[in-house]
Amino acid sequence: MTKERWGSGLGFVLAAAGSAVGLGNLWGFAYRASQGGGGAFVLLYLVIVFLVCLPLLVAEMALGRSTRKSPLRAPAEIAGKSWGLLGWLFLVVSVGILSYYVVLMGYTGTTLLNALLGQLPVDKSAATDYFPSISTGSVSLIGQLLSIALTGIVVAAGVRGGIERLTRLGVPLLFFMLICLAIWAVFQPNAHEGYAFLFGWDAKQLLDPSTIANAFKQAFFSVGTGIGAILAYSAYLSRKSSIPGEALAVVTMDTAVGLLAGCVTFPLVAILGLGDLVGAGTVGTLFSTLPHGLALPSLGIAGKIVSVTFFSLVYIAAITSSISLLEVPVSSLIDNLGWNRNKAVLCSVALVALLGIPSAINVNFLVKVDSVMNTLLIASGLILSVLMGWVVPKRLRADLTEVSIGNSQVAGLLWTLRWISVPTISLGFCVVAEETFRNIFMQ
Ligand code: PHE
Repeated sequence: MTKERWGSGLGFVLAAAGSAVGLGNLWGFAYRASQGGGGAFVLLYLVIVFLVCLPLLVAEMALGRSTRKSPLRAPAEIAGKSWGLLGWLFLVVSVGILSYYVVLMGYTGTTLLNALLGQLPVDKSAATDYFPSISTGSVSLIGQLLSIALTGIVVAAGVRGGIERLTRLGVPLLFFMLICLAIWAVFQPNAHEGYAFLFGWDAKQLLDPSTIANAFKQAFFSVGTGIGAILAYSAYLSRKSSIPGEALAVVTMDTAVGLLAGCVTFPLVAILGLGDLVGAGTVGTLFSTLPHGLALPSLGIAGKIVSVTFFSLVYIAAITSSISLLEVPVSSLIDNLGWNRNKAVLCSVALVALLGIPSAINVNFLVKVDSVMNTLLIASGLILSVLMGWVVPKRLRADLTEVSIGNSQVAGLLWTLRWISVPTISLGFCVVAEETFRNIFMQ
């Protein structure tokens, strides 16, 4: 479809890791972990990431690299016309997620600005009002529009000039800042209470449907597989790359950031005595607790430095993800209609901005769209795993064996995709779909 290529293997890995590491790790992890489950939630999340999402990510990358088509066309190209519907599902889910993702980026940008201006809430009542104040009205709309515009500018600059350049800088910086923050948190008094909340063990939680649903949503959203974003990036990969190694690197970095972010957020909550704000377990967890906690006068200038660092980091992480989501419709328009990149970006940005307006003005709407899109994301992951594991396994095997990994490793991967990923995602889909249905229609 296009002659664009990544500048190097590392460039691709960082871009893919940039796609994976995002608000899912920072906002999503705080939001879902604060709904309970403790160590059982963390364990389930880890098992799903490594046993289910990793083989699926390998399959998605192989599909992109071997067809060199956009997400819209790749499934039909490899398995015939009737699979074209999966391409449409990729498009719907990526545009749907991006529509509220940029709203969340807007909240992050606003909080960063407030941190810079020294206007974060100092007392508890201001803290309770803080999230509602940034998540409605013109503040939220402006944040949303600026964020989608910024995403569009990077994507318009192209694969090497925009996406690769930003992620080469942003991803290492993000790791560095996060590690510094996690070390800072370890040495604060009461930090252990935060770790106890996050990792506290209660075996019963392993069977709790809401913990299971949260772990599935968190794993799929965070790795970002099954939606075509990594597929789009993989279409620019060279034949020489070793997909399983790269996939493992991406998933490991993503998981490390998720856990590190948890090791910053929850100790901070405990250190600052913000447990009751988290107790509500809302989408606002990240935005109701940290801005207030870090603005406490007792922290002085350290609080300001940490808040500015933390929210810059969240914004960088978010934009390296939002560009991968936007690449799905953009590459599909280029591939399908022969448009040039700028026109494709402009149209996609306009569509995403329009669709995001209801989420920008109403946070309850955002929560509902998030539930539905997460369910669809798991559904498209399931269909993709069936396609690659059961419908075109020979093609997957041939494509992976071409590069230097052993036959037995390829066989193991394929076996896991067919016999572990497909049944597990089917189960996860049922639990998540049931919960989403209840949340949307029974309330
Ligand atoms: N993984 C990203 C995050 O954690 C979001 C995302 C989802 C990106 C799906 C691409 C595809 O924020």
